[in-house]
Parts: sequence; C-alpha cells; structure tokens
Amino acid sequence: RVATPAQKPPITTTDEFALAFDIDGVLIRGGHPIPAAIQAMRYINGENPYGVKIPYIFVTNGGGKPEEERCADLSRQLELDVSPGQFICGHTPMREMTEKYHTVLVVGGEGEKCRIVAEGYGFKDVITPGDIIKAKHDTTPFRKLTEDEYRNSRDRDFSKINIEAIFVFADSRDWAGDQQIILDLLMSKNGRLGTRSKTFDEGPPVYFSHNDIVWSTSHEHSRIGMGALRASLEALFKCVTGKELTTAHSFGKPQLSTFEFATRLLGQWREDCHGIKTPPRTVYFVGDTPESDVRGTNEFNESHFSSDVTWFSILVKTGVYQEGTIPRYPPKKTCEDVLDAVKFALEREL
Ligand code: G3P
Ligand code: MG
Repeated sequence: RVATPAQKPPITTTDEFALAFDIDGVLIRGGHPIPAAIQAMRYINGENPYGVKIPYIFVTNGGGKPEEERCADLSRQLELDVSPGQFICGHTPMREMTEKYHTVLVVGGEGEKCRIVAEGYGFKDVITPGDIIKAKHDTTPFRKLTEDEYRNSRDRDFSKINIEAIFVFADSRDWAGDQQIILDLLMSKNGRLGTRSKTFDEGPPVYFSHNDIVWSTSHEHSRIGMGALRASLEALFKCVTGKELTTAHSFGKPQLSTFEFATRLLGQWREDCHGIKTPPRTVYFVGDTPESDVRGTNEFNESHFSSDVTWFSILVKTGVYQEGTIPRYPPKKTCEDVLDAVKFALEREL
C-alpha cells in the first residue's frame, strides 16, 4: 500500500538485498547523468513509497583517475555523496600487482593522470609512453609531444631499464603511438627497449583494466573501447611475429575476480556504512553491456551457486544494449532505465 505524504513511514535500511550499478550507459553518458539516474538514486535513498533505503555500490570498467577523484565527479553528477568505499573501477585490482612488478609501463588516460594513479597504488617505477618518446623522438614517426607532455615526461636512460609489465589503465589517446610502443616491448628481450627477441616470447605481460569492445558515450552509437585496442594489438602481434599473443590479460567485468572483489566490497560497505553484518540474500546488478555486466553477473552466480548471496542481472536500454537486438548474454530482467530497474528490484523484494 502506498502511503500518502502525511503518513510517510520512517525510513529503514534493508539488510535483505543490495544493489550494484554499472556507470557508463546506466547512470552517465558522455559525462552527463542519464535523466533517470538522479531520480533512481533518490529512490534508493528512501524517497520511495515504502520508506526503504537500499545499500549499493558502483562497479565500472571505466577509470583513468584516482578512485577519490572519480567518486567526487560522480557525487556531483548524481547529486549525492559517493564514497571510494562503495566504488570499484577497472584498474582498482591492479593495486594488488605492486609487489610483483617494480618497473612498469602505464598506458592511457589524460596527461599524467594514470601515472599518478599507478604511483598512488604503490608502483615504484612508473614509465609512460611520453617518457619513451621524449628519450627517442622517432619511436613513433608521426607523434610529436606537446610542450606540456614534453615537460611532464621524465628523462630516462632506456638502455639500462627492463620494463617488467605493461598496464593499460585507461583508453589510449594515441592508438598508433601506444600500440607501437607496446609492440616494441612485447617483441623485446625482457622488456628492454631497442632489443628484439628471436622467439617473441620474452616480452613483458600486458594487462588491460577491462575488455569492453564498445561502450556507451554521448554519441548515438556505441564507441570502440579498450577491448578493441586489445583485439587490435593481438592482430598486429600476429601479423608482425606470426605468433599468437599469449601474455595479454584483462581485469574488470565480466571477470569472476571482479565480482568476488565487488561482493567483498559490498559486505564491508554494508557493515561500515549501515552496520549490517550479514550478507544480502540478493544483489541486483544493473548494467547496459551484455558481454560485461550480464555475463559477469550470471557467471559469478553460477560459479557461486552454493553461497548465501545470489547476484541478479538487470539489463537497461540506455546504453550499449539497444532495444530490438538479442543480447548475447540474456539477463534475468530487462528494464527501460535505471529508475525502472530499482523499482523492479524493490517491488520484487517486498
Ligand atoms: O571505458 C569504460 C567503459 O568501457 C565501460 O564503463 O561503467 O559501463 O563499466 P562501465
Ligand atoms: Mg556500462
């Protein structure tokens, strides 16, 4: 029964279920909130006919900024406080690799942002493509550093440096240059620039923060993303060396480890923010990309079918998935937009 304003029930937080949101194509497109997003956030924070508040987290494949900065952006866009304690982005799990690799190449993003993120995670020696071009201007024939890039790039002697791993933190702003540099390293002996392996199996591994071939922006059609760069690099490596690239890895959705991480983060967030110590029975994940969001949610659920927590996939029509197409990974429920999705979840639980 819907209460009239005069009889509004007191707001209570449910410990029975929770929500997890993808960002691009669900809440944000091209830097601006999707109209239903702000209303959906208000709805789950108690502005609903039942006076129920639902705990939630955000799980995006995007990145390119420190988590704190990304949460500040999201807080402004969605008109509510978003804490890093309820937020995972594509490169968040890379922070667990700092013990394994000392000297790393970090690719993608605006200016020096990703170097700052990587150093914030604890990587000791972070190199960017700019450092490499500064040291050898003909590394990539048609790419010239701007004055700012030249000033910010560091002076290094690459004849003495072994790059142990490559991390693509965010979308490349220069596909040609970045691919040339990554290829040089993949074909090198032990990540030493200027060398060439005879067997092409001595280069460093390359880690991508996710594998989305396309993503949703302000453009009416999906745009190519980091997964496309990976596909391109794999094809180039094959063309140039005649071998398969076997040392590329992706984090992010749909990886099971990302959903495991999200489950742990949600547990911690429910406890820290809401004082809830028990796991939710159901986590509704609202996403727009069948290959990442729906696939990851469904597969995580299948692989953890004996656990207490069930993840439930909801696909919305405001992003990559477009009405009239058949999603490759079918969701448990399809909704118009995120507001429709949160209403569905709450009503299913009552
Ligand atoms: O580059 C980000 C994009 O591929 C997807 O972001 O929020 O939809 O997971 P999101
Ligand atoms: Mg998305």
